[in-house]
Amino acid sequence: MTVSLDVNGKRVDSPAAPETPLLYVLRNDAGLNAAKYGCGIAQCGACTVLFDGQATRSCVLPCGAAAQGKVTTLEGLGTADRLHPLQRAFIAEQAAQCGYCSSGMILSAKALLDRNPKPTEDQIKEAMAGNLCRCGTHTRIVKAIQRAAREMQS
Ligand code: FES
Ligand code: FES
Repeated sequence: MTVSLDVNGKRVDSPAAPETPLLYVLRNDAGLNAAKYGCGIAQCGACTVLFDGQATRSCVLPCGAAAQGKVTTLEGLGTADRLHPLQRAFIAEQAAQCGYCSSGMILSAKALLDRNPKPTEDQIKEAMAGNLCRCGTHTRIVKAIQRAAREMQS
């Protein structure tokens, strides 16, 4: 049996069982390694992707369920030549140290800015509270999201 997914606008066919977490399909079958395995139990946000535009923990979303909608990973957000404003802002604000959390952070921030293009600092902190950074770059991440929000409005 094959699970067929829409990932970044492209079809991905996987031999994985439908209950297999989407994260494994992305990394093992689709060759998309931006989403990271952190905890595997929906606690850290490292595996966050967009599922029908919502920030979603791919470590606990069965791929069979993911096949019912559209998945966007960091690879689908921007390209090396044409970065998304959030990617540019994370670089400009030096919001990554090891970078392990960055993909999940950027996609959670994308979901936030899509529903609230002008978030307050408190709203940013609240929206990002479920994404953990073991390097402690949270302050820079907030600044990066504020920078991207400004750029996306101009
Ligand atoms: S790996 Fe999915 S939330 Fe931590
Ligand atoms: S930059 Fe290392 S975990 Fe966030």
